[in-house]
Parts: sequence; C-alpha cells; structure tokens
Amino acid sequence: MCGIVGYIGEEQAAPLLLTGLEKLEYRGYDSAGLCLNDNGALVVKKSKGKLEVLKNLTDDGKILHGTVGIGHTRWATHGEPSDVNAHPHLSESGRFAVVHNGIIENYIFLREMLMSRGLSFRSNTDTEVIAQLFEYYYKGDIMDTVIRVMSKLDGSYALGILCRDNPDEIIAVRKESPLIIGLGEKENYIASDIPAILDKTRNIYRLENNEIAVIKRDSVQIFNTDKMPVKKETEKIDWDIHAAEKDGYEHFMFKEIMEQPKAFLNTIHPHLKNGRVVLDEIHLSAEEIRSFRKINILACGSAYHVGVVAKYVFEKILRIPVEADLASEFRYRDPIVDDKTLTIVISQSGETADTKEAMKEAQRRGSHVIAIVNVLGSAIAKESDDVIYTMAGPEIAVATTKAYSTQLAVIYLMALYFGDLLGKISPEEYQIYLQELQTIPDKIQQILDNREQVQYLASRLFNAEDIFFIGRNIDYALSLEGSLKLKEISYIHSEAYAAGELKHGTISLIEKGTLVIALATHEELISKTRSNMVEVHSRGAYILCLTTEKHQDLKSVAQSTIFLPQTCDMMLPSLAVIPLQLFAYYVAALKGCDIDKPRNLAKSVTVE
Ligand code: G6P
Repeated sequence: MCGIVGYIGEEQAAPLLLTGLEKLEYRGYDSAGLCLNDNGALVVKKSKGKLEVLKNLTDDGKILHGTVGIGHTRWATHGEPSDVNAHPHLSESGRFAVVHNGIIENYIFLREMLMSRGLSFRSNTDTEVIAQLFEYYYKGDIMDTVIRVMSKLDGSYALGILCRDNPDEIIAVRKESPLIIGLGEKENYIASDIPAILDKTRNIYRLENNEIAVIKRDSVQIFNTDKMPVKKETEKIDWDIHAAEKDGYEHFMFKEIMEQPKAFLNTIHPHLKNGRVVLDEIHLSAEEIRSFRKINILACGSAYHVGVVAKYVFEKILRIPVEADLASEFRYRDPIVDDKTLTIVISQSGETADTKEAMKEAQRRGSHVIAIVNVLGSAIAKESDDVIYTMAGPEIAVATTKAYSTQLAVIYLMALYFGDLLGKISPEEYQIYLQELQTIPDKIQQILDNREQVQYLASRLFNAEDIFFIGRNIDYALSLEGSLKLKEISYIHSEAYAAGELKHGTISLIEKGTLVIALATHEELISKTRSNMVEVHSRGAYILCLTTEKHQDLKSVAQSTIFLPQTCDMMLPSLAVIPLQLFAYYVAALKGCDIDKPRNLAKSVTVE
C-alpha cells in the first residue's frame, strides 16, 4: 500500500526522501512523488510508475532544493495510476501540499461542497480534497485548520502536510493508518513504516489516532484535537539493520524463506519453559477458557490460510467448533458471536483494515480477542485483548513466507496450551507434541538444504498455464496457501481444491498435461488422496506430489514426488509449505517476475 516519508533538517531533503521511499517500495505502489519547500514555494515532482522514473525526472533529487519535504509512493484507490493522481497534492493556490495513506470515505460530498464554493480539482483522488479543505479553512493558524479539516474527514488517514507559510515545519496527523516520527539530531522524519528511516534513527514516536504532530528541525510537539500537548515515550527500535536489507540475496522473498528455521525457533522459544508451553500473554482464567463454546478465527490472505490450518488443528485437539472466517466477509454478515466465543485474529502487519474492523466487530459482540501479530505496537496488537507476537522480524517481500510459518508456530503452541488446560490431551501426547515442535526448525532447514530438487522441478514446469493444488483436511488448508503463493508472484492461474470435491465439477478442466500438485501428508487420508491422484492422472494430468518419506509408494502414481521429513500430522504444514514457497519463488524467477513487488499487490492493506 502507499508509503509516506518526510524530512526536516539541515541536509537537502530530496535525495533522502527518495532513499526513504525506496525502502518502502516493498509495500506496493504505482506512482511516486516529492514536494519540497524551496524558499517559500512548494515545488512538486511526481510521476506514474516506479521510483526510477521519479529519480530520472528529478536527476536523483538534485533539481529539487530545500531541507524540508514530503514524499509518497501511491497504490491507486481513487483514480487510475497517473502523473496527476500521484501524491503530493497541492491545494489550489499552492499553499498546502499533502501526502496521504488511507481512504476518505466522504470525499465526493466534500469535493462537491468545495466545488460549489469555487475551488477546482485537478485529480480524481480523495486526497486532493484534503489539500483543498486546508486551503478553504485556513485563516492563518495551522493548528486550528488541521483540527477543522480532521473534523470534516470520514475514513482513514495518515497525512504529511507542508504549508508554504510555515517553511520550517511538517505537520503529521493520523487516524486508523500508521504513521511514525523518527527523531534525529537537528533533524526529524515522518514515515508510514519503520524501514524508511531505519538507517537514520532508531528513536521513534508512534502517532496515535487523532494526534497532531508539529515537527521542526529541533523539536517535535504532539497535540490532541483539543490542542492539549500529548506526552510521548520514545520507542527504541532494536531491529538489526540487516533485517530490513537483502543481505546479498537476490530477493527479500528468498531471504525470508531461508530465515524460516530461525524465525520459527525465535517464536516458540520464549514460550517453552521447563517442558511446558507458557502463554502468559493470554489473560484468561481456566474457567473462562472452559466456558468458550466456539472459536472464531479472523484474518485475510495468507493469515486466513493459517486460520484454516488452525481450524483442523483446534477441532481435532480441542474438540471445539472452529470457524475460520475471511475478515472482509465476517464484518458484514451479522455474525453469531458472543462472550462464549473466543476470537483469534491473525495478521502479520497488524494493520489490515478488514481484519482490524472484524476484530472490533467481534469485541462489540462481547468476544475476547487474542491477536497473533508480527509488527510490534501495530493497531491490532494494541486494540486486541491479548497479543501473542510472532518473532519473524521485519517481513519485506509482499508475498508472506516467514510470517506464515511463525503464525503456524503460534497455532501449535495454542493448541498444546489449551489442550493441556482443558484436559484434551494426555500428558504423554503433550510431551510427544512438544518434542516434535522443537524439531521443526531443523526439519525446515533440511528441506531448505535440499532445495535443488524444487528448483529443478520449477525449471521443468514453469510454463504451466493452469495449476491445481489438491489435498484433503489439513492438506487442503495448505493447498490454499500453495496456490496463493504461486498466483501472487508468478501470475500463473491456479486453484486450490479439496481433493474429494474435484469430481463435482472441476475435474472437467483436467486434460493432457494439466499440472496437479497433490498434497498428501495427512496420514489418515493418504489413500483417499491417492485415489484422487489416480483419477486426475487417468485424465492426463501431470502430478507433482508432496508426501512424507515413508510413502515412497506414491511415486508410482505421481510423475514427480517431493518427500518431506516425518512429523506429527498437525505440524506437517510447517514442512510442506516450504517446497510450495520455493516452487512459487523459482517459477516466478524463471518467468522474470518482479518477485518482491508483484503487480497490483500491497504488503499491508490498510483500506477496505
Ligand atoms: C496482503 C498481503 C498478504 C497478506 C494479507 C494479510 O494481501 O499481500 O500476503 O497475507 O495482506 O495481511 P496481514 O498483514 O493482515 O497478515
């Protein structure tokens, strides 16, 4: 999604802003722009396309002068990707410049109101309305104007604002869209995300909803909408700088795939003490846990696919009905949720708009929410009742890999924790699962070390035009993720199907040479999946099968087979997903796709 960077200091701002925007490229964007205050004039340069275009247009920022500026990468929502729709947007007289992340829901009403009062618009964006509102309400006091404008806006926004009349400050405002302030020596920054400023400063403030920051070279003041100062604690970011760099790898996605053993270990490790799973983050008594009649899991994208795995795991172990729900559907379907429902929200970014709103809906209905989140201090982490952090570290590639794996790790921890507490697993089973859990990082490493086979298969199969992923039970949950990964980055059409459901329609699409990726890891159902493999093979399909080491016999049905180390059924998705991620990666690389920034996608989807 869109990215914001702002700088005020003693250096030329434009090159710094361009570097900051580069660090946000991973979020996904289709146009970019800068605005600098050059001796009392707001000068804007912006263009459709990649940052390279903007760099060429501005000679790497050299043609823009000034030590105060804002920059933006835009992911189109209102109005097509174009030069004119790119941010920053100027107000009619050029007095105000605005960059904006989020969506203004009442922008049509506001636009018509402003037009009826004589203001004219250049773009089709909702953001230009904000710049024009500033123009319209400005009577000489910037703080009054910001408050007035905020009172008119419905929707979500993180804003960076420059005013021609106040050349030595940036104004930053946020509501439901993240914005941080980076604190430096005689210089300060704003950014929508930490990587943009990580090489400049480790000290940040996080703006909260409805806070207004007045940022100068040597001070940052924060106010609420009653103009009362807000005291902030400085937060120190302790990320390793390499965590947000490619570190010699060609793509972030590959680096992140390779980091999975460590990420998994870092996630489970803090929760294992004296041979037990400890989840101190969950503030529920045993009695409250026993009172739940249902578990609801809310998430989007790959996080939702973790939710589908969790449904199988929790139902099997806890014997409680579990619904895995797409957050965007849940929030508008009058869901049956109450204080006897435990809600689990899963989100890497902690900022996904649909997930956040679905969570609030569940809370309104009395449900206790446990969030599984990767980004510290994100909105979902803050607003949930309890939060368990995945320790994946910063994930930069749009297509998630290590966040998915660490989310699964938390699901297993929860299954053991609740299973034990509710008396649903015997002490012996508990110990077996716990032992297995600790072997997963090494087994993931083993699969990564043998990745040449996947690379070879990708080189043979990357020309496929349609691919079917099939599996039963937890393998079906996994096929959803395998299919999404491939679609996201290689642009090959694929579908995930419950293997038993194929014959009810989709099998008609199987013809000579159709690639079917059959996931057969779930011990109890391997013979059933085997029958489905035979069915599609007899109709001409080429089968690539993923199974465990002991099922060598499946070689006789599949044309290619990848064998996984043995582990308990519920943890097999953590192993099986690795070849699926690698397959998607190698196929996309062979097709020359933009792996870390696939077209039309955004890392963190902060709009509905
Ligand atoms: C976007 C990303 C997906 C991600 C989904 C949910 O669509 O491209 O990779 O799974 O959002 O994101 P979250 O941050 O809530 O996990």
